[in-house]
Amino acid sequence: MLIEGGKPLQGSVTISGSKNATMGAMAAALLVPEDCHLENVPAIGDVGHMAEVLRSLGAIVEPTSEHGLRINCAELTGCSPPTELVGNLRGSFLVVGALLARLGQAACAPPGGDVIGQRPIDVHLAGFGAMGARVGREGGRYVVDCDGLTGATLFADYPSVLGTQNLMLAAATARGTTTIVNAAAEPEVQSLAVMLNSMGARISGIGTSVVTIHGVEALHGTTYRIIPDRLEAGTFAIAAAITNGQVEIQGVEPEHLLSLIAKMREAGVKIEESGDSLRVRWDGELRSVTIQALPYPGLATDLQAPMSVLLTQARGVSYVHERVFDNRLLYVTELRKMGAEVVTTGTTTAIISGPTPLIGSSVRALDIRAGAALILAGLAASGRTEIADVYHVDRGYERIGDKLRGLGAAIERV
Ligand code: EPU
Repeated sequence: MLIEGGKPLQGSVTISGSKNATMGAMAAALLVPEDCHLENVPAIGDVGHMAEVLRSLGAIVEPTSEHGLRINCAELTGCSPPTELVGNLRGSFLVVGALLARLGQAACAPPGGDVIGQRPIDVHLAGFGAMGARVGREGGRYVVDCDGLTGATLFADYPSVLGTQNLMLAAATARGTTTIVNAAAEPEVQSLAVMLNSMGARISGIGTSVVTIHGVEALHGTTYRIIPDRLEAGTFAIAAAITNGQVEIQGVEPEHLLSLIAKMREAGVKIEESGDSLRVRWDGELRSVTIQALPYPGLATDLQAPMSVLLTQARGVSYVHERVFDNRLLYVTELRKMGAEVVTTGTTTAIISGPTPLIGSSVRALDIRAGAALILAGLAASGRTEIADVYHVDRGYERIGDKLRGLGAAIERV
């Protein structure tokens, strides 16, 4: 991706459906033999990868429109997705909870995903075990099976997003009641619970740290609209501010962005909310702030790198504490190549001195959000930025180059 920086973004942009909510919704379709229709599905790489995972299990996954998917899992032919598919997509591990509930068995390699720190799955496995599943390892795969699952009280060591989702999928049709204590509250987790309830599940405590799932006999197909992608919305909000621009971001759920909006306002960015849109504009000098990435409703770890780029343009010293993953500051090396003054202490704290003019350079996208952060840096930089390995960004952002170009950015794919 080539970016000629320094152009203030102007105009309006519409946000696509949430990547991470779509992963859960696609896995939920495995629970029933009827059709599930998903609407507002983002056209991104990871949706294609998840579709391949489901097809490898015998599912029919077909587009019904540009952003619509029909998934039919009437005839599942397997319970073990190929390792090469799972290795690239962390969300694919959600098929385990769904297959365990539907077929009583699943086998899956440890899921891959972005290199952002340790990413254990003990919350998932301990939960399956407490519900009566046998959990083992064979030839590099986790193998789980059960003679029906039984509801239990599950304490999650950490409020894991995929862990909570996996346990909800498994528990929806378990015998009796399952309580997940220390559950994740992220909007993407809430979204899965809402979709499961639309399929006949009985889940309460949605969006709190204690989620209760009363097991039901059977679920049925549904039509479900994917929630807006709060991370894409946040990225565009920062793009507006960092380019001294003014952008209306449409189709968002402002409540999902409270922590980001609060921090951006504290730094001096003007943000007006109206219904499902945000108007974001740069308003003179930015001030340094301290940010901490935390589980929801704290600031999303996925917006930590984009926010850090904004803080390179703020006057003073900003502290960035990454408290979700233990190695999510690797992008700092790339940012320094562009002139940012950032030092890290350990692998979870960055100290940013600003404002520093950013200078177009050749850099590399290390993962989805680190890549998005470099795009933001390129938009703000003088001269030309060349971002390699930008396929990472395509996994999670729908046509990001086109959308930014629509706002006046000079971006080209080569
Ligand atoms: N953790 C445990 N035990 C577990 C699972 C996780 O200790 O069994 C710890 C991890 O070590 C980590 C923290 O919990 O420190 C957070 O991990 P979590 O399990 O919540 O992350 P995830 O479910 O693997 C999802 C998103 C990520 C997002 C995180 C945090 C999907 C497909 N992925 O990952 O999204 O950063 O939640 O909100 O939903 C992205 O979209 O770019 C992305 C990386």
